This record gives sequence, structure tokens and C-alpha cells, in this order.
Amino acid sequence: MRIFRSLLLGLAAIATGSALAQDTSEVPKEKHDYQSDVARLRKIVINSLYSNRDVFLRELISNANDALEKLRLTALKEPEVLTGAEELNITIQAFKDDDGHGRIVIRDTGIGMTPEELTKNLGTLAKSGTSEFLARAESTDTTGTGNLIGAFGLGFYSSFLVADRVYVSSLAAKSSQTPEPAQYIFSSSADESSFETYPDPRGNTLGRGTEITLILRDDALEYFDTHKIADLVNKHSSFSSQFPIYLFTQRTEHVPDEETVEESPAEETLEKEVDEDEAVVEDVDEAEETEIKEPKMKEVVVDEWIHLNSQPPIWVRDPKTVTDEEYELFYQATFKDYEKPLAWHHFSGDTGSGTSFRAIIYIPSKLDDAYWTNPLATSSKDLRLMVKRTFITSDLGEDALPKWANWVKVVVDAEDLPLNVSREQLQSTKFLKQIRQILLKHILQMLTRIMEEDSEKFEEVQKVYGNVFKLGAVEDKRNRDKMVALVRFHTNQRNSTSLDEYLANKKKGQNQIFYLADMGKTPEFLANSVFIEKLDARGYEVLLLGDPLDEIFVQNMRVWKKVQFQDVAKAGLKFGDEADPEEEKQELEVLTEKFRPLLDWLKGQAEEVVRDVVISNRLVTSSCAVVADMFGYTANIERMMSSAPANQGSKSPMHEFAKKQKLLEINPKSPLIQGLLRRVEQLPAEDEEPDVEAENELKEVASVLIDGALVRSGFSVQDSNEFFIRTDRILRRSLGVSETAPTDTTVKPAPPVDPEIKAEDDFSFLDDIPGGDQPGVYIPESLRDQVSWEVEEIDEEGNPVHPRDEL
Ligand SMILES: *[C@@H]1O[C@H](CO)[C@@H](O)[C@H](O)[C@H]1NC(C)=O
Ligand SMILES: *[C@@H]1O[C@H](CO)[C@@H](O)[C@H](O)[C@H]1NC(C)=O
Ligand SMILES: *[C@@H]1O[C@H](CO)[C@@H](O)[C@H](O)[C@H]1NC(C)=O
Repeated sequence: MRIFRSLLLGLAAIATGSALAQDTSEVPKEKHDYQSDVARLRKIVINSLYSNRDVFLRELISNANDALEKLRLTALKEPEVLTGAEELNITIQAFKDDDGHGRIVIRDTGIGMTPEELTKNLGTLAKSGTSEFLARAESTDTTGTGNLIGAFGLGFYSSFLVADRVYVSSLAAKSSQTPEPAQYIFSSSADESSFETYPDPRGNTLGRGTEITLILRDDALEYFDTHKIADLVNKHSSFSSQFPIYLFTQRTEHVPDEETVEESPAEETLEKEVDEDEAVVEDVDEAEETEIKEPKMKEVVVDEWIHLNSQPPIWVRDPKTVTDEEYELFYQATFKDYEKPLAWHHFSGDTGSGTSFRAIIYIPSKLDDAYWTNPLATSSKDLRLMVKRTFITSDLGEDALPKWANWVKVVVDAEDLPLNVSREQLQSTKFLKQIRQILLKHILQMLTRIMEEDSEKFEEVQKVYGNVFKLGAVEDKRNRDKMVALVRFHTNQRNSTSLDEYLANKKKGQNQIFYLADMGKTPEFLANSVFIEKLDARGYEVLLLGDPLDEIFVQNMRVWKKVQFQDVAKAGLKFGDEADPEEEKQELEVLTEKFRPLLDWLKGQAEEVVRDVVISNRLVTSSCAVVADMFGYTANIERMMSSAPANQGSKSPMHEFAKKQKLLEINPKSPLIQGLLRRVEQLPAEDEEPDVEAENELKEVASVLIDGALVRSGFSVQDSNEFFIRTDRILRRSLGVSETAPTDTTVKPAPPVDPEIKAEDDFSFLDDIPGGDQPGVYIPESLRDQVSWEVEEIDEEGNPVHPRDEL
């Protein structure tokens, strides 16, 4: 760019000798229709990006780079593809046609296209991408679309943002498959729904590769300016190509006119005189000046190719000399993600087996949409391996990195590998294994450093990757401690707590990590849960877990630093400050004795739903709650189990058993419970005359109470119709309305049958909804066999074979 500023440039205008002639009437042309999707997508690209037209250059350069990359990789096996054009480069020229139109010509010496490929690549589109592109284009703003077109191979159509007509002339590389390549032209205008192909009337002039000629629209003449082009390339594309990008420029120079110089000895005289006495010089000056000023200088136009991306690639530079902006631009150009990365780490090292390398790791600002929903779409695709600055592959296999880390974007450049190494060979070397460990170590270091040094950034990282760290703690046992340190939770006392911070806040005697899990619920909702009433009132901290992954995390961790996790919706909750366990036990026995008639009676009422009814030690204001017994499912797990695809509709005995393992806990201090106790005690004994009416009324109250407790505790009621009918009766009673008075049930009947089905009821649009067939809860495949709560083995009596609390 610096060189550029100093150049005197205007609109470049060069002879159009080698340029494509527009009059090609004598050659036979083949007319093709665009595939209908292409026509549609082209329109979307043009309309949605109109205010962002600069992207055309970025996209065309990116395509040129891909073609060159492909050529170089092919050349490793078939060196003859290099014939025709030895140097691999991209050139850009802007000039004026005879009729005054502006043209931009972008040429690469890449792999090129055969006539068939021209038609196929530019006129049709892989069906699979279409609907996904449409869905995403329609749900994002224009900058979003700008980012998408490259990813979906639609970059070429951005030419029509600035061009009325586009010619693509291409000559495929000479190879065993195309021994006699021919240079063909694809031609299309912005508003036609068809394109033409025909042999290039100039013959095979390209040597090899592709030349795109844009006939600029009248409203796009701003691009017909070499300054503008150079700025755009520097801004968006200086990192997108490892191949040189040259821009054609012309500048006017004033040079001595040879002919006049020869005729007159003036200059010689002047030089001779300079060293002599001033008086003499002055004399000479006066005499000579008129002669020198005369047309002894002339203007000449100097043609020059300027190398735009002449800096070495940033990963080989000293990190101290690379600016943040350069790191960001390099990221955007390399990974085609036009949002800024959250963080990066640039380092060099040695694999230990003697291969030195340099690497940059980037943390993107968001996770791919498919990360949690589509296991197939999530192998690391952005681990770019170079050897001696030459790109080798970005596909290092499914397990190049563990799932928790495979969203990082990495450039690795190894010094001492052979250039012709293939992926298969790589996998058999130690290099990949070693580089994997090194990268993981650095990713963790990077995250840990952000956590320790930049809390604001760490918050951003948490927002995007918080769940990824939980996944990592479960998945990567080797790095578990470091992963757990990165994990944060909401609690009833803080918005963000690490497990270590939680332990530091543990109260005297407390020997459990209390947590409440209910997927999909907000921390604010969970903070009001019946299960944490007493813990909260007494000042204990409780982790509030609202994500499905949280439950998987705690079930897999079970203990942290020798302290067990305790689900507060389950039996087994202990505060740990019970002064004298014996005394508390006695107290409980006294209470149990006092409430015995109610406990027994309620157990009879609730036997369909719970295994037992007990006195609670976790309730403060609520009258009762349903908790999971030691081996039962909490409401959260019950929901997860029944939504997991494997369990849908299944009624395995173990599943049914676990569902029954619930306790109804009652709060002995609740006036409602005390009142209920009194009423139950007043019921006639078994050997007395039964009071049917009083008993039925009590049963109804009990039933609503139990169902209410189920709902409050996150379970669903067994029969919600029955629940509502009973509630209706109780409400009538409390309002003094007749319990039996009928409701007027006359309704207007439906109109007669209408057998006509309208033809336009077309549901094919459903095909276009991405992920429409996904089940509600997705548990990553890699976790399914690690999730230990899936099946609890039980013996014939229904007792667990391996109680989970045996640690
Ligand atoms: C680009 O490469 C071609 C052949 O490979 C060569 O003829 C041409 O001079 C190169 N362009 C520049 C500007 O160096
Ligand atoms: C790679 O190149 C080296 C030297 O150029 C050669 O000895 C080796 O056989 C090549 N390997 C493959 C797999 O082509
Ligand atoms: C916690 O988050 C809530 C809601 O997002 C916010 O209102 C509150 O101020 C936060 N509290 C702290 C201590 O950051």
C-alpha cells in the first residue's frame, strides 16, 4: 500500500490487444438455461448484497486461490499439469474499452475448467446446498449473506453486483484426463436467465487457468480505479492467497528526451561546471538554463505489475510485529468467517520428534450452528496444515481433535515434513499425534490465561463455550481438572461460580455440593424452587443448573475434590451441621410419631405416585414436595429419559421402577399439614361407623395436594383431566357454588363434510426447514455410553445392584 500511494495513478488505460473482443458473432455459441435454483440464488445474492458490492473482488480472488491450490496439489502427483504456465499467480487489470466501458480482468494460472466444467460449475448447483443457503440467507442480514456466499460456492455470482456482463474464459490444465484442453468462454449478463458457451476466438491464449472479464455497470465505475482495487485487495484479500496477486498499473514519468539530449551537450556542460567557481557557474547557468528548460524532458507511460500481497505470511513473522488488525484480517480471509475472532495465540515449537512448527490458534466468536445438533457436521475442518508455507490439507481426520476442542481454527506450518506427504501417510507418523497434544495444551493454556487475566473476555468466552467446557470435563479425562476449572455455574447466591469457588464458600460441616437441575429453566426460576427453600433460607449455596448438559456433567463427576454432588431434589440431603445426630434422629422420630396417622393415611392416598411419605427437612414455607428417592429419577432425569430417542415408548421394568422411587415429603410446620393431620385424626376409626362424606372430601383435598406437589416439584401429574375436575369441585366448594349444578353444554355442531382438497396445499416447503426432524433433546453421540444414569441395574427384588453412592 505504501508503494502505491507514491505512484501517480489515474484510470489505467492500456491497449486491448489481448483482451476479449466483444464481437464474436462468427463462432458457434451454445445456449444453456441456468438451473432454476441458480437463477433464484443469483437474484438473492444480487439483491441482498447490493449495498455491500465490494465483496465481489474478495470472492473472485478467493476462487482464484482455490483453483491455484487445486493445481498445486494435483501437480504433486501429475507434474505435467504445470505445463503452459509455470508461475502460479493471480493478476488483476482494469482498463477502458474502445467504446468507453470499464473492464476488470482477473486471471489465475490455476487448474482451469474444461468446457463441461464451465457449464456445470457456473450454471448448476449442488442441490443439497440450496435450501440450506436459502434458509440461512433469509434469517440473516446482508453481512450474514455476504459471509455465506463464499461458504456455499456462490461467490462467482457476486460478479453481477458490479458487472452488466461477465465473460469467463478458461483453459484446463493438461493432464492424462484432458490431454488436449481447449479454451472456452462462458458468457452471461446480469438479467438473463441463460448463458452461452463457445470456443474462445483468441485460441488457447491463457497458457492455463481462468480469466474473468467484468464489463462494469455504469453505476459501478468507482471500481475502475487501481487505487480502489489495491485498497480492497489489501483490506480483504491480502491474506486470502498464498500465491502472488499482481495489479497492473501505469504511471507517467518525466524522462529526458534522448533525442534532444544527444543534440545538445548542455547537461554535460552543466555537470562539469558545478564544481567550479560560483561566478563561473552563474555564468554558465544563465547561458544554459533556457536550453535545459526546453523540451529535453518527455512524458512516458511506464507499465508495472505491482505485487499486492508481498508480506511474508503472518504465522512466520515475529508475533511482536503483527498487529491485532492483521491477525483479524488473516483469520477472516483464511477461515471465511467475517466476524472477529474472540482471541488468538501465536507460537512456535518442536514436536519432540524433531519437527519444528509455527502455529496460530483462533477462538471464533461463535460456535457453528450444527455443533450441538449434528454430530456429523462437527469434525474439525479448520485445522489447516502447511508444510514450509505450502498448504497441504485441512482435513486431518475425524479425531484430529476431541469434540470439545474441534471448533478451534488453527494454522500449523511444519518445517521438516516432505511436501508431497499425504494425509494417510501423515496419520501413520508421530507428527499428528504430537501436534494434537501440543495444540490441546495450548488451547487450555490460552483459555486459562483468559480466565485469569481478562474477566471481561472470559465472560464472552463463557457465553459461547460454557457448555463446551462441561462437555470437555466429561469427555477428556486426561484434561479433566483443567476443564473443570473453566466451568462456571449460576447459584442462588452468585451469577457465576467455579467449583473451587463453591468449595471455598462451603459452610462448616457441609460435605456435599448442593445442586438443583431442571433443564430449560432459568436460574431465576430455579432459585424459587421448593427444593432449595431451606438451603437458601439458611445461607447455603446451591448450583442452579438449567442445561441438559449440566445433569450429564454432575452425573459423570459425582465428586469434586472429595466432596459429593447432592441433588437437592433427592433423598440424602445433609446440611452437615446437625449438632447431635442422635438428638436430631430422636426429634424426627417424635415428629414422625406425632404425624403417624397423617403419614399412613397419605401413603394410602398416594401409593400410585410415591413409594413413601416422610417428614421433610428441606421445606420452610411450602407444605409438601415430591423428591426422588436415592435410586429414583428426579423430574429432570425423568424428562431427559423419556425424551431420549432410545426410550421413547419403551416401558422397561427398570425405567418403571426408577420412576416409582419417589417420596412425598411433608412440612410439619405448615399449618395446612397440621390442619390435615387434625382432620385425619377426627375420621372414625376402622371399627366405627364410616363418615363417607367427610372421607371423600379429605381424599379430594389430599389428591389435589399431591398433584400440586408433583407439579411444583417439576413432575407431571398422572391424570391431568382428573386433576382439573377435582380442582373445579374444590373451587366450587370454596365459593359456595353447588357442586352438582350442571354447566350448559349446548354447542354449535361442525358444518357438514367437505371432501374437496385444495390443490395448492403444498407442503413441500417443509423440506426446506433445516433440522425440522431433530428430536428435542440431543445428547452427543460421544457421550451416550458415558452417561451413567441411563440404566440402573436392579435385582429381582428391585434393589439396585450397584448403588450409585458406592464411590
Ligand atoms: C503470472 O504467471 C504467468 C505464467 O505462469 C506469467 O506469464 C506472468 O508473467 C505472471 N505474471 C506476473 C505479473 O508476474
Ligand atoms: C516425495 O518426494 C520425495 C523426494 O522428492 C521422494 O523421494 C518420495 O518418494 C516422494 N513420496 C511420495 C509418496 O511421492
Ligand atoms: C446476575 O444476573 C442478573 C440477571 O441477569 C442481574 O440482574 C444481576 O445484576 C446479576 N448479579 C450479579 C451479582 O452480577
